[in-house]
Amino acid sequence: MAADNQKWWQRTVVYQIYPKSFQDTSGNGVGDLRGIINRLDYLASLGIGAIWLTPIYPSPMVDNGYDISDYTSIDPTYGTMADFDELVEEAHVRGIRIVMDLVYNHSSDRHQWFVESKASRDNPKADWYIWRDALDGKPPTNWRSIFGGSAWTWSEERQQYYLHTFAKEQPDLNWENPNVRRALFDSARFWLDKGVGGFRIDAITYIKKPTAFVNGEPDGADGMVNVHTMTANTKGILDFLREFKRECFVGRDIFTVGEANGVAADELVNWVGDNGVFDMLFEFSHLTLSNDGEVWCRPRRWKLSELKTALSNSQKATATNGWCPIFFENHDQPRGVNHYFEKDADPIKAAKALATVLMTMRGTPFIYEGQELGMTNVAWRSIDQYDDIQSRAQYEFALKEGLTAEAALESVHDFSRDNARTPMQWTAGLNAGFSSARPWMPVNENYLTVNAELEDRESGSVLNWYRELSEFRRAHEELLSGTYVELLPKNEKVFAFERTVGKKTLVTVVNFSTEEVTLPKKFSTMNILLGSELNPQPLTLRPLEARICRA
Ligand code: GLC
Repeated sequence: MAADNQKWWQRTVVYQIYPKSFQDTSGNGVGDLRGIINRLDYLASLGIGAIWLTPIYPSPMVDNGYDISDYTSIDPTYGTMADFDELVEEAHVRGIRIVMDLVYNHSSDRHQWFVESKASRDNPKADWYIWRDALDGKPPTNWRSIFGGSAWTWSEERQQYYLHTFAKEQPDLNWENPNVRRALFDSARFWLDKGVGGFRIDAITYIKKPTAFVNGEPDGADGMVNVHTMTANTKGILDFLREFKRECFVGRDIFTVGEANGVAADELVNWVGDNGVFDMLFEFSHLTLSNDGEVWCRPRRWKLSELKTALSNSQKATATNGWCPIFFENHDQPRGVNHYFEKDADPIKAAKALATVLMTMRGTPFIYEGQELGMTNVAWRSIDQYDDIQSRAQYEFALKEGLTAEAALESVHDFSRDNARTPMQWTAGLNAGFSSARPWMPVNENYLTVNAELEDRESGSVLNWYRELSEFRRAHEELLSGTYVELLPKNEKVFAFERTVGKKTLVTVVNFSTEEVTLPKKFSTMNILLGSELNPQPLTLRPLEARICRA
């Protein structure tokens, strides 16, 4: 692909912010928009061109903002609409665009739409959510919600069940109803008119329900089946999404990235690229190697070759048409340092190794807040210390499956979404410089050595490695628009690939293992342009060593 055919978002880096945990300025222990404004220069130092904000709309916060009660306002905890406008403007001054999170599969049960919908069976919004009669006094199907328990909740008022893919406070919207779609599209346009640079679209694979609601084969001791198995990526979904694209995205200089659990690499052609519905898709195949169907208490050992294949499959599927977001972390995933490396791996070296893959693959890199510092998982002693609704549900599920409390907690340590949600570590001072008050969630204990202030000063820090990689990426057309070819695909220790434009090729070589590795002879002539170790040896990779070479 020639560089001049590329869009701005294909040549930039995106930074994801979880506002609740980023920077508090009001002194209530919760992050806010002013905190983000104050940190824009820091963000600009990473060479980013867009910030994806997880939801900042009014919300009862059952799922930390993914339960929205008003799609076109700002939650007062985060600030005001004036703060938001200022953020958009101040970001623009630094060449950064703000990207909003659209949560359109479901709303909060406190949204006025749901309050009206549940009031009776014949009000104007009666059909805005998914209602069904009881079957023999029980829920209509055996579907388990993603956050545990039945995906159906009984409404006394309406004497009917409503469907919720996630928590019971997150009722699924009925996309079959054109008025629902119109209302959602209007709210997307509201933000476009404010000058946002694009959208991340939440849980989008669940919006189309199957024509028949039937029981599925149970996959757990509770006799239920994950609703995902029954409703994800259902036939007809693309018709809704084509309409969404036509109504909201076409002709705008923005990007869209859909969260698409349930879409495999070989289907990408229908979702992204010239005939697709989004610009990019977060697909899950490289995230889900480590457990069985997202059941945390059924961990799975995976090999590096599987990770490489998962990533390379998406690359192949979009090689000539379409584009990938490159990501290893987000607000739903454990920290990459813990997740992708052996337990004894040096966290700084591991963070740099992952960064090197992230910033040199073909696609738009997404850095999740704190990833650029090498932030790590937490391991709290009791499930009561966990805020995340999914962590508590997975813990309960594990107990039902017969695990001991200790083993159940261990699976929470490995996979909890709270691992990614601890406050951003700015300094070695009070509350890691996140807030002057007690933070809504405890700070990770390692903030004394893992923090932005310290890392800014250390030339060999993870933070400065990210900055170097970002600058290197911008300066090398190979990394921006070059083709991708995986090297050494069967090697279980090294991830290597080349990126080529015309006659120029760069090669990324990363040792994912904690052992020294000898490279094949053909690597001996490569000139190392950027390396994570001092005095790198041409054919020997030290544990977790990462380098970018000229072929
Ligand atoms: C997505 C979000 C996650 C949220 C869920 C329900 O997966 O990333 O945080 O809990 O959707 O909205």
